[in-house]
Amino acid sequence: MAQSSDALWGGRFSGATADAMAALSKSTHFDWRLAKYDLRGTAAHVKALNAAGYLNDDELGVIQKAIKELTKRVEGGSFKPKPEEEDVHAALERGLIEIAGSDVGGKVRTGRSRNDQIATLIRMFMSDAADALEEQILGYIEALSGKAEEYMGAAMAGRTHFQHAQPVLLSHHLAAHAWPQVRNLQRLEDFRKRLNKSPYGSAALAGNTLGLDSGAIAEELGFAATTENSMDATSARDLVAEFTFIISLVAIDLSRLSEEVIAWATVEFGYVQLDDGFATGSSIMPQKKNPDIAELARGKTGRIIGNLAGLLATLKALPLSYNRDLQEDKEPMFDSFDQLMLVMPAMTGMISTLTFNKSRMEDMASAGFSLATDIAEWLVRQGVTFREAHEISGKLVSFCEENGLELHEPSDEQYREVSIHLKPEVRKVLSVSSAIEGRNGAGGTSSKQVIEQLVQLRKLVGKAKK
Ligand code: ARG
Repeated sequence: MAQSSDALWGGRFSGATADAMAALSKSTHFDWRLAKYDLRGTAAHVKALNAAGYLNDDELGVIQKAIKELTKRVEGGSFKPKPEEEDVHAALERGLIEIAGSDVGGKVRTGRSRNDQIATLIRMFMSDAADALEEQILGYIEALSGKAEEYMGAAMAGRTHFQHAQPVLLSHHLAAHAWPQVRNLQRLEDFRKRLNKSPYGSAALAGNTLGLDSGAIAEELGFAATTENSMDATSARDLVAEFTFIISLVAIDLSRLSEEVIAWATVEFGYVQLDDGFATGSSIMPQKKNPDIAELARGKTGRIIGNLAGLLATLKALPLSYNRDLQEDKEPMFDSFDQLMLVMPAMTGMISTLTFNKSRMEDMASAGFSLATDIAEWLVRQGVTFREAHEISGKLVSFCEENGLELHEPSDEQYREVSIHLKPEVRKVLSVSSAIEGRNGAGGTSSKQVIEQLVQLRKLVGKAKK
């Protein structure tokens, strides 16, 4: 049997905790990473205790020194939770008592609960995690826009249904992967507004009777305000879910680009060469160069989505207010964050070192009759209704398909046989560059529009980095 004498809740118990109970309950193996936040919370809390008269100035001095010392020991790794300790809070209280003595150390817990502590710590953690994630997203956007600038002017086949659709600039395609990440940055910014409130002082659920100034604690910890409702503050985990969701969205777009890179790197496509540093080989097939980064990004996205789904399921039937189920919020969120932080630098490195085979991509840009829409739109400009123009262009595609020709190859005579509206001048729209440059509306694929969006991306990244 494990001992309960050192637990934070031993008083009303005379029997020892069963080993199975302790093993299930224990969270130090994942919540220890919150230790520095717990210590900062305690430092703010003891000031409030002093202001309210529960710690005199001498005691405050003793405890503040102890917090400093313990912080050093935790950072240096010489202080660790004991195997029998339940959570980060229990271990750190023991540490403070070891250093400050139990007379002073024993007062620290006054007026707070692990429920408001953990709710505060998790917000502090996510605030730092959001900083780290933002930095990675910015680096990734820079890698995409850097590649887009490097390959400005290169054409490729744009696809829908994964079939050739219309020619586009490669830079347009790469930038299309940057914008979802810009929106993720905006999501993080918005998330911070909700995150930026301190639950400290909510205690177990209803607040505390000691008149502690939770506003001062919030300020000390760098929060903009205190939470509005102590029951909500200690029992809601929507913010943990929201952060895990944003992580999922970041991962999902990485996974979509990964899928493309995997296809582009095949012999059939021949669009890209992976840099040696960002690919792996095969232990049996000497010729292989594998896109493992893209595959792992795609694979880990499944796991990240699973973490979110699991967390939402944990939350769905919980009555107010705190329930121990809520301890299950941390591992999925930590895991999603940690996995993404492994994936992002590798993806950024892979993208910024990709070499594109411009001529292969250019050759394929007009394959699959991808200029058929340009014929239809040329006919519209000649006064034909789009309905008829679509029909004529479709007929020409089918004629060319039967005769093994490209759209510009039939004779003037053959054009006329397909439709009297098909004049030889139509050939001037049948080039990849005219198809690209013609699409010059806002957000279109013309060089002018693409350069414009790359400038916008640069500006956004520059502003975000300040
Ligand atoms: N370890 C708990 C959690 O992660 C925090 C402590 C609250 N525990 C309790 N028995 N009230 O949610």
